[in-house]
Amino acid sequence: MLNTPDAHLHLPPEAPAPQARRGPAQTFLTHAARSKSFHGFVNPPIYRGSTVLFDTMDDLVHGRAEFTYGRKGNPSMRALEDAWSELAGAAGTILCGSGLAAITTALLSVAGSGEHLLVSDTVYGPVRELCDGLLQRFGVAVTYFPPDPGESFRDYFRENTVGVYLESPGSLTMEIQDVPGLARIAHERGACVLMDNTWSTPLLFDAHAAGVDISIEAGTKYLGGASDLLLGVASANPEYWPRLIKTHRMLGCIAGPEDVFLALRGFRTLDLRIRESGRRALELAHWLRSRPEVQTVLHPALEQSPGHVYWKRDYHGASGLFSVVLQPVSRQGLAGMLDGLSLFGMGYSWGGFESLVTPIDHDLVRTAMAWNQSGPTLRLYIGLEDVEDLKQDLAEGFSRLAGNP
Ligand SMILES: Cc1ncc(COP(=O)(O)O)c(C=O)c1O
Repeated sequence: MLNTPDAHLHLPPEAPAPQARRGPAQTFLTHAARSKSFHGFVNPPIYRGSTVLFDTMDDLVHGRAEFTYGRKGNPSMRALEDAWSELAGAAGTILCGSGLAAITTALLSVAGSGEHLLVSDTVYGPVRELCDGLLQRFGVAVTYFPPDPGESFRDYFRENTVGVYLESPGSLTMEIQDVPGLARIAHERGACVLMDNTWSTPLLFDAHAAGVDISIEAGTKYLGGASDLLLGVASANPEYWPRLIKTHRMLGCIAGPEDVFLALRGFRTLDLRIRESGRRALELAHWLRSRPEVQTVLHPALEQSPGHVYWKRDYHGASGLFSVVLQPVSRQGLAGMLDGLSLFGMGYSWGGFESLVTPIDHDLVRTAMAWNQSGPTLRLYIGLEDVEDLKQDLAEGFSRLAGNP
């Protein structure tokens, strides 16, 4: 037994049943992840460490202890993993050092050499780099499909298709996908459904209930909530949990103790922050729609936004990230608008307390669908500033644009 390749991974003995959340989300977020072993302190402390001491030789040889080595877990990691599993209705959760690391671990747990993945054309850019680079190098074939393929989705499958990777809404262009419909077809073909659910978190979209087997979250965004940590979270249903945890143990790409601790703090206020950021974003989206400088607002809660019908049917709200397509303008005019903003910062990532704007056309790669907008596209993330102040900052930007078209 000890000579089998898996013996030293110290894997959990069996896939647990999905955890049913105890009570409404707000109460759960506030009271989850507590343990008597924390001596009454309301948040789990930071556990650092590699070595864990065993009581006896027999315990060491058989890995008989709740925690056996720092890389295989510690009490604060376990607290966040269990709380997330319960929030997401999953059998188990892994934590990684970044959102991208969680995506990589999840994809490597599903696909291998000689197999085929279907990936939505609207995925976060680095996922495309991973698919076209590392995965193809290891013999995994990848086909991109348009985000809303309808029944023609069946035509994309091959004999060796083992996984379908979704991201809803799509990165930058904000298309909501028909997750239950796509999952149904994928399951008919025996493929695993993976999804990046970062925009919603389990609070706004119940990915596992919609048929997602492995749901991924860049905890760097809303879970952290303060732009001061990097974290990846992936949760799985009972069928895919054994593969996910095994791949995670083999790769060893875990999250750091400080970031886990900070994420547990973010967990407490996640519902309040995501809903408030979403409320402010929707108000700004409506305001932007009325501005002559704007061609289109790509916000899932607005009727003209792609996939709005699926959002209305499946989602419990909208978070604070959306995009706008401006009327055609010179590069210099756009730079003048953005460089002079005083509240909106310019930079990557989102989900923190501060509003951000990013011009996105230079980052946009689409190979299965057309993206032919005549004007530049901006991605906006709305934080917790006063909405009127944010409108004023943008209105002053539009004035600079008018003076420098
Ligand atoms: C939708 C989405 N998924 C995943 C990630 C990756 O997260 P991280 O930066 O923690 O690797 C990002 C980061 O911007 C993202 O926007």
